[in-house]
Amino acid sequence: AVDVSKLLAKTGLVTYDPGFNSTASCMSKITYIDGDAGILEYRGIPIDQLAEKSTFLEVSYLLIYGKLPTRAEFDAFTTKISRHTLLHEDLKRFFDGFPRDAHPMPVLSSAVSALSTFYQDSLDPFDEDAVELSTVRLMAKVFTIAAYAYKKSVGQPFLYPDNSQGLVENFLRMTFGLPAEPYDVDPAFARALDILLILHADHEQNCSTSTVRLVGSSQANLFASISAGINALFGPLHGGANQAVLEMLEHIRTAENGNVEAFVERVKGREQGARLMGFGHRVYKNYDPRARIVKQIADEVLIKLGVSDPLLDIAKALEEKALADSYFVERRLYPNVDFYTGVIYRAMGFPTRMFTVLFALGRLPGWIAHWREMMNDPHNKIGRPRQVYIGPAKRDYVPIAQR
Ligand code: ACO
Repeated sequence: AVDVSKLLAKTGLVTYDPGFNSTASCMSKITYIDGDAGILEYRGIPIDQLAEKSTFLEVSYLLIYGKLPTRAEFDAFTTKISRHTLLHEDLKRFFDGFPRDAHPMPVLSSAVSALSTFYQDSLDPFDEDAVELSTVRLMAKVFTIAAYAYKKSVGQPFLYPDNSQGLVENFLRMTFGLPAEPYDVDPAFARALDILLILHADHEQNCSTSTVRLVGSSQANLFASISAGINALFGPLHGGANQAVLEMLEHIRTAENGNVEAFVERVKGREQGARLMGFGHRVYKNYDPRARIVKQIADEVLIKLGVSDPLLDIAKALEEKALADSYFVERRLYPNVDFYTGVIYRAMGFPTRMFTVLFALGRLPGWIAHWREMMNDPHNKIGRPRQVYIGPAKRDYVPIAQR
C-alpha cells in the first residue's frame, strides 16, 4: 500500500487530483457551465437563445472578442474570413502523401500544424496583428482543409472555395459537390449544421481546450496549439464519442438484432469495460442542455429528408431504457451532446469518420478564444503539473553482465 503522508513529505505539498476533477487551471470569462442545473452560457448568453437566434459565425465572434458584433463588425469579420478560405497550392499537395483510407482527423491536425510552415508571418503570439491574422486564417482554412480531408478519403477532386457563399454553405459545397455538377446547398441542412456547430463551439476547460491552453502556455503559436487540440479531440472519450455512438448503434442493430435491453445489461456488467457511448459527462450531472436541442434537430432533419433511420429508433429506445435504470440514475448519467449528432450527420450524408471532424469545426472558435484569453492573462504561466513519485527508491546501477 502507498503511504501518502511519506510520499507528500518527500514531494512537498502538492494536490493529487487525477483527471483534474477539482483543480481550476485558469480564470476565464468565456463560458459558464452549471452542471447540476444543466446550464450552458457563452459570454453570459444561454445556449438555447444562441442556437435559436444566432449563427455560427456570430457566435464565433462572441466567443473570440467577448461581445456580440455590431452589423459593421460582423460584416468586416465575415468578409475577412471569406477572403482567406483558399489553401496554398503546395498545402493542397500535402494531402497526396496520406494513404487513401486515412482517418480525416489526423489529416486535419497535420494540415493545421503545417499552416505554421506556410503562414510564417502570423506566428508571433504577442503581435496583435499576427494573432488577428492567424485567427482569421484558421477560421477560414480549417473548413477548406476539412472538406479536402473528406475528398481525399473518397478519392474525389478538390473544389476551390467559392467566396460568395457563407462559410457553412461553402463547406457543404466543397464536401459534397463535384466539379462538373452544380451542388445546391439545402438551406435547411446548412442551418441544421450551423446550429450543431454553435452547440459545439465552446465548453470551457474540456480535454481539447485544456490541451490548446497547455501547449499555448509554452508560447507555441496558434496553429501549433490548435493542431494539438484536434489530436486531443480525436479520442473516443472526447470528440471521438460521436463516431463511437454511431458504431455502437450500428452494432446493436446488426450484431444484437436491435436488442437494446441485452446491450444495456452488458454495459452495466462492465463487459470488456463497455460504456454507453454518448452518455455521461464530467460536468453535467443532469441532462446536457445541448442534447435536448440536438434531439429536436434530429427529428426535424430526418422528417425533412423523409428518412426513417432505424438507428434513431435504437437511440431513443436506449435513452428511454437507460433513463429508467437505477445504474444510470444513481450515477447521474444522461445523454450528452453527441448521443444524437451522429444520426443527423449520417442523414446529411457524412461518413462516420467525418463526425469528429465536424465537432472540431464547431470547437474551433472556442479553442481560439481560450488561447487568446490565456496569452492576454497577466497570471499566465507555463503549464507544468506536479506528480507524486511512486517508483523505486534510490538504487545502484548494475552492469549488464551481472544482471
Ligand atoms: N456508460 C456506463 N457507465 C458509465 C458511463 C457510460 N457512458 N460513464 C460513466 N459511467 C460510470 C463509470 O463506470 C463510473 O461507475 P463506478 O463509479 O461504479 O465506477 C461512474 O459512471 C462515474 O464515471 P467516471 O468515469 O468517473 O466519470 P468521468 O466524469 O470521469 O467520465 C466521461 C466522463 C468520460 C464522459 C464518461 O461518462 C464516458 O466515458 N462517457 C462515454 C463517452 C462519451 O460519451 N464521451 C463524450 C463526452 S462529451 C464530449 O466530449 C462532447
